[in-house]
Amino acid sequence: MSKSAVVTGAGGFIGGHLVTYLRRLGYHVRGVDLKCPDFGPSDADEFMLADLRSFEDCREAVKGVDEVYNLAADMGGIGYISGAHASITFNNTMISAQMLKAAFDAKVERFLFSSSACVYPQHLQDVPSVIPLKEEDAFPAAPEEGYGLEKLYTEKLCQYFTEDYGFPTRSVRFHNVYGPYGTYDGGKEKAPAALCRKVARTPDGGTIDIWGDGQQTRSFMYVDDCVEGIYRIMQSNYSGPLNLGTDELVNISGLVDLVAEAAGKTIHKSFDLSKPQGVRGRNSDNTLLRETLGWEPGIHLREGLKPTYAWIAAQIQEAQHEAQREADAAPRQAAE
Ligand code: NAD
Ligand code: GDD
Repeated sequence: MSKSAVVTGAGGFIGGHLVTYLRRLGYHVRGVDLKCPDFGPSDADEFMLADLRSFEDCREAVKGVDEVYNLAADMGGIGYISGAHASITFNNTMISAQMLKAAFDAKVERFLFSSSACVYPQHLQDVPSVIPLKEEDAFPAAPEEGYGLEKLYTEKLCQYFTEDYGFPTRSVRFHNVYGPYGTYDGGKEKAPAALCRKVARTPDGGTIDIWGDGQQTRSFMYVDDCVEGIYRIMQSNYSGPLNLGTDELVNISGLVDLVAEAAGKTIHKSFDLSKPQGVRGRNSDNTLLRETLGWEPGIHLREGLKPTYAWIAAQIQEAQHEAQREADAAPRQAAE
């Protein structure tokens, strides 16, 4: 008989891709989220609308499944997570702690928690030429306010359930993930999607605004690598926190250049120092990931940006056509 899994956050970006990946492997998949996916139907065998801040909904979500991939979270880019500490911390504490307990009570085989590079201390990320972050660097702790603090706390909660009850848990620290079917507008978007949107809406030779001075650095992971890594970590026997990211460090100005290249446009940059910037530099040390899995994400940013830009540009073009159709129809309707 095929294995079954629940993916929470299945109406979102990584969860949506993970549902598709697990279905291709032959899993029976239940997707769970507050909302249906924004950009088309889910590939899940069943899709449950639920609010995982409710313990009853968590219990329903995990009923009868072998594996739990807990990706639901109140989440966004640096503009969003730095502006809503109370609600994000409260919502994610409720979701994470109760999903873990419900999965334990239901005696599922494995539970995976989607953590973040935001668990790492701020003072280890204060220069662009940052030393890549190792898992052990998370303590002594000084995580990102709110969002990062909850991720670090839930990692420890997973560790305690494994140590005290023998419950198999996995904690995966994602480093900035990008790809098609991710939020690119509205305030929750992260840098790659935001910059693709800005370039797509700007004519060749135009100028876009960039948060910060463009010298801050990150590593970015394409979503196909992310879902493969999630699955590999779940199937491994390693229960401690693991980085999941690339170690291809790029500054934000360089990211803009790669987006412009994918678009085939010349783009000028205007830097806005008043906008949120987060840490000055962040990179993943993949030594432990390589030792554990014999694998690491391998899709280069230049390659991953091509389908990402193409998808976002197509979404924007479609929205512009729709707006034009509505504008064209308005005078006709008024005349009727
Ligand atoms: P996303 O916002 O696209 O997906 C998260 C989903 O969780 C959303 O669809 C949302 O509706 C759902 N959700 C929120 N509150 C809920 C609730 N109370 N009940 C049920 N569902 C709820 O984000 P994503 O990028 O797909 O992130 C997935 C996971 O990975 C999150 O846990 C996030 O913190 C983590 N993560 C993501 C990144 C990244 O770069 N995308 C980096 C680090 C960690
Ligand atoms: N969002 C955004 N939008 N960021 C921009 C923009 C823009 O238009 N222009 C430049 N940036 C810069 C930001 O100022 C920041 O310095 C950098 O690009 C990266 O921003 P984000 O992608 O929004 O967030 P982050 O890398 O600081 O943190 C993200 O990654 C973590 C995991 O690595 C967040 O999504 C966290 O929630 C996530 O856990």
